[in-house]
Amino acid sequence: MVVGLGSYIVNAASDCAGCHSGPAGFLSGGNPFFLGGGQVVWTRNLTPDPDTGLALTRDQFLEAVRTGRDFHAGQTKMLVVMPWTTLRWASDLDLDAIYAYLRAIPPVANQVPPDAKEALPLPPSIPFDATTYTDGVVDRKLKGADQSFPAHRGYAISPVVLDTSRRGVHDDEGRGRSVGVGSYVANALAHCNDCHTHPDRTADGSKVNTGAFLAGGTVFATPPPLQPLLKTVRATSANLMGESHGFFREPDDSYARFRGVIRTGTLVDESPPRPLAFPMSLVAPNLARLLESDLRAVYDWAKAVPATSGASDVPHQPPARWCETAADCGSGEACTGGECSGGTCAADLDCGTCQTCDAGACQPPAADSLCVLTAQ
Ligand code: HEC
Ligand code: HEC
Repeated sequence: MVVGLGSYIVNAASDCAGCHSGPAGFLSGGNPFFLGGGQVVWTRNLTPDPDTGLALTRDQFLEAVRTGRDFHAGQTKMLVVMPWTTLRWASDLDLDAIYAYLRAIPPVANQVPPDAKEALPLPPSIPFDATTYTDGVVDRKLKGADQSFPAHRGYAISPVVLDTSRRGVHDDEGRGRSVGVGSYVANALAHCNDCHTHPDRTADGSKVNTGAFLAGGTVFATPPPLQPLLKTVRATSANLMGESHGFFREPDDSYARFRGVIRTGTLVDESPPRPLAFPMSLVAPNLARLLESDLRAVYDWAKAVPATSGASDVPHQPPARWCETAADCGSGEACTGGECSGGTCAADLDCGTCQTCDAGACQPPAADSLCVLTAQ
């Protein structure tokens, strides 16, 4: 049973495969993340292959996920791309289930290159206090270590103060519980914050950047092999919670619309509807496997998150579209440097991510564009 629960977490609630699966096979690692200055880390082989797979004991696995400690030989810097600052808030029971699942999947022999991250200014690990949540605007007691998807732990690990008037609403339908479960999924497992808050943590890294919580704006570069398939080269994470520009605050917001976006991987509300860009294109199919009640819980949580206001509440550019020739682009557009440009515009917002609007036409980004250079 615990293996089944682990599978549900890995393949629906969380997004492990989006990073850890590659050409060699399911969860067998080998995807590079280039961190600038010649530093690079590779996703690890999480399968039980005795020579190249996950070599951590259960206790080491918990320590790695809770403190960021990197157990690989010679490593003195903590895990850096691995979203452990989110996953650490999961209950012991749910982490045990993930570990049990990783022991049960088929082994894949895939030797992953060693990381180069010595030059990054990182500690070896960050201590974990199992009694207290400290990542947000209020510290709270942590409970439910021995429970799965515990609603009260979900409330405790919210970086912002949730609208508790919603907690009691429709209690007889179980929605009071729903907000807590949704918060647990979003803040421990699905790491929405990592992608949808920019930057995702405060300057010293100690807390979630609640001032810009889920207002979007992180730029992602589509890996070259995926570009012709997804037809994008770059995308900006969407503003979800902004008072004026957030997805969940739009007048036509509804559970049906959110559900439609996640279950179809398509922005069903746009005309014409367009497929979600990378990396939401990988996240949505996972979330689409959530039980209806858990997907609904994520929505109920989103509605209980206070709206983000101020400088971070801005609309973001649509994805920059991939092309091989101008035939891949719209009429009047050109294909320059592998992306469509040249369309008419009134502002940068009308152009693809990192493009600029100049003299009424979208221009591809300059070679020294900071937007491109800092893309993830
Ligand atoms: C954003 C991409 C990303 C996601 C999502 C992700 N990981 Fe990782 N993970 C990495 C990278 C990259 C590393 C190794 C390098 C580093 O982060 O410094 C890593 C390392 C690990 C390690 C350490 C393995 C070892 O051999 O020491 C474990 C365990 C792990 N991940 C498990 C998971 C699980 C379980 C999930 C899903 C709940 C997950 N990861 C989701 C990118 C990711
Ligand atoms: C790995 C990064 C990543 C993660 C994790 C992630 N998102 Fe996204 N999300 C994006 C990006 C990038 C876009 C923009 C995609 C596009 O323009 O097509 C996006 C788009 C969306 C949209 C469409 C909104 C709109 O106005 O177009 C919704 C809704 C959404 N995300 C919800 C979530 C929720 C809820 C979570 C957590 C449960 C989450 N996302 C986790 C990167 C991510």
